[in-house]
Amino acid sequence: PRQFFVGGNFKMNGSVDTIKKIINHINDAEKDPNTEVVIAPPALYLLLAREHLKAPLEVAAQNVFDKPNGAFTGEISVDQLKDSNITWTLLGHSERRVVLQEDDQFVASKTKAALDGGIGVIFCCGETLEQRESGETVKVVTTQLAAVKEKVQDWSKIVIAYEPIWAIGTGKVASTEQAQEVHAAIREWLKKEVSEKVAEETRIIYGGSVSEKNCKDLSKQPDIDGFLVGGASLKPAFVDIINSHL
Ligand code: 13P
Repeated sequence: PRQFFVGGNFKMNGSVDTIKKIINHINDAEKDPNTEVVIAPPALYLLLAREHLKAPLEVAAQNVFDKPNGAFTGEISVDQLKDSNITWTLLGHSERRVVLQEDDQFVASKTKAALDGGIGVIFCCGETLEQRESGETVKVVTTQLAAVKEKVQDWSKIVIAYEPIWAIGTGKVASTEQAQEVHAAIREWLKKEVSEKVAEETRIIYGGSVSEKNCKDLSKQPDIDGFLVGGASLKPAFVDIINSHL
């Protein structure tokens, strides 16, 4: 069975004070011991988070660069994450794909660099409303994944986050059927394009307006193995989402 996985993506939110408070709340809460929990604060607060967050909880970057240390102003390397005990990174979040114009190739190249350096990758994929309405959802998501397949052999440290763009920060969560349908399609793609074992073992988590109210039903779907939580990860209710699978 796949271990349930809940990530908190703080995006560009928080301060020294509020991030410490959120982490203390998560530390002190009773949490499902069978759920893997990873929080992703802004880069500036990664070390602070690592210092305060209690094991076995892990810290993720929201992004990493695909080149080794050198003259790349404003970027952070895989080695620097490792040096700081940061064991995961998000990659390919739609806000980076859309606002920062990262394309499939660049995201795949960063995925390879992170995995080669031993950093786990929460790989985000998802369609726009327009793409969904024209029936392209599965094509869009599997194209994003195909770019990774070109560069990566070992999928054991990849968690796939399906995040429909129309559900992010909108309060418009995908229905359990909509989410399950795409998760199943991703697993089918893995089975056909990578291997049966990778399809069986890879966690596919859902993101987009996940809350303490809707997480229970979503968590019961056979192909939903956890969540990537934005807004609600900044609130005490994040703990209820961590415990949704209990
Ligand atoms: P919200 O939970 O705020 O909709 O954000 C989802 C997300 O983008 C997580 O990466």
